[in-house]
Amino acid sequence: MKKIAIFASGTGTNAQKIIDHFRDKPNVCIALIVSNKPDAGVLNIAESENIPTMILDREKFFRGNAYADELTSIGIDLVVLAGFLWKIPSALIQAFPQSIINIHPALLPKHGGKGMYGHFVHDAVITSGDTETGITIHYVDELFDHGNNIFQTSVPVTADDNAASIAGKVQLLEHQYYPRVIDFLLQDQLNHTS
Ligand code: GRF
Repeated sequence: MKKIAIFASGTGTNAQKIIDHFRDKPNVCIALIVSNKPDAGVLNIAESENIPTMILDREKFFRGNAYADELTSIGIDLVVLAGFLWKIPSALIQAFPQSIINIHPALLPKHGGKGMYGHFVHDAVITSGDTETGITIHYVDELFDHGNNIFQTSVPVTADDNAASIAGKVQLLEHQYYPRVIDFLLQDQLNHTS
């Protein structure tokens, strides 16, 4: 059995898609939903799906062990960031080597880094005159939106697009691909341990 912890600060539409994808799969479970915001929409999803939750304390996250012991003792195999806005501390990266992944709503290395989230990303795509955008799924390292890429896919940006229309196109890609890429990574881990 592989256990996923989803970290999210927002609505949690990606979290919901991931939960749906693994609902009937016997060897993977969403064991925990983690948030830094006690009122995040993703916590309502956790409640209706009967998934345990953890609310992070800022001091403990950034100056303590970053919850590495708790996550390890639950037996988490993969940490999935889905709209989680805090930077991941070294303590957690070291406790989960190559086992923390993130999705970014653009084609990194374009339009990433601190403060680049939500509409700021799509505004930057428009301002830059890009003819395509997309999603990047990548391993997490100590820098924002920086670790090695796992998967990218793109969508055209047309003259009719604005930030909102791009957000819609990109969200479709996220929902379509993030669960599948997670599934692929976990099956790969399962194949190497069985
Ligand atoms: C997504 O656009 C994701 O790429 C980014 O944060 C957003 C989360 O959206 N990292 P949601 O809460 O899953 O709807």
